Amino acid sequence: MRTVFLETERLVLRAWQDDDLDPLAELCADPEVMRYFPSPISREKSEFLISKCVEKHDKDGFSFAPVELKETGEFLGCVGLSKPDYGTPLPFDPCIEVGWRLKRAAWGKGIASEAAREWLRFGFETIGFEEIVSFTTPENMPSQNVMERIGMTRDTTGDFLHPALPPDHPIALHVLYRLPKEEWRQSALVPG
Ligand SMILES: CC(C)(COP(=O)(O)OP(=O)(O)OC[C@H]1O[C@@H](n2cnc3c(N)ncnc32)[C@H](O)[C@@H]1OP(=O)(O)O)[C@@H](O)C(=O)NCCC(=O)NCCS
Repeated sequence: MRTVFLETERLVLRAWQDDDLDPLAELCADPEVMRYFPSPISREKSEFLISKCVEKHDKDGFSFAPVELKETGEFLGCVGLSKPDYGTPLPFDPCIEVGWRLKRAAWGKGIASEAAREWLRFGFETIGFEEIVSFTTPENMPSQNVMERIGMTRDTTGDFLHPALPPDHPIALHVLYRLPKEEWRQSALVPG
């Protein structure tokens, strides 16, 4: 059964379905999509990723969730909110993260920002979070551009080594962006 969580002008943000595994596995096997992750991942790991998201949604009421193009029903990738869960805490825990991963054909169209803005609205307005953060490697400028586009600001004191990676791993260093609810509310009042 198709469960819609949220909608935007062009997108449906919905629950995971069995037929999402093929397109998710395809994008997670694409070295260009996974350039700022340790490596592309196998179909089995993509399947595990979906099961973790479903589990988190059942527990928390949100998770990284599929983004579907309204016009065609095409699966574009996933965007959403998540309570990070790496076994070892992050230096700024407890926190709520907003994140995104889209297939290459969906880049350059404002899709990640459009979906993320709606998840921010859900997080601040519906759930009532006081702050939402995001983080990535210093080299991942497309992701940092999304963070800035949706109103987040880099916390220049917040750089950290990702706890899921060995400290000397080439992509262990991460930068942190923050968006307090009050700043979101102010920017949400500005049209456009
Ligand atoms: C990070 C990622 C989601 C960014 O995707 P993106 O398409 O660059 O970001 P957006 O969806 O916000 O799109 C913005 C771009 O669309 C353009 N655009 C075109 N039509 C648009 C529209 N109707 N509305 C808004 N922007 C539009 C913007 O000008 C901008 O282009 P620019 O970057 O050349 O200036 C994508 O690169 C990705 O999936 N990467 C791999 C996974 C990853 O690294 N995830 C993050 C891990 S922390």
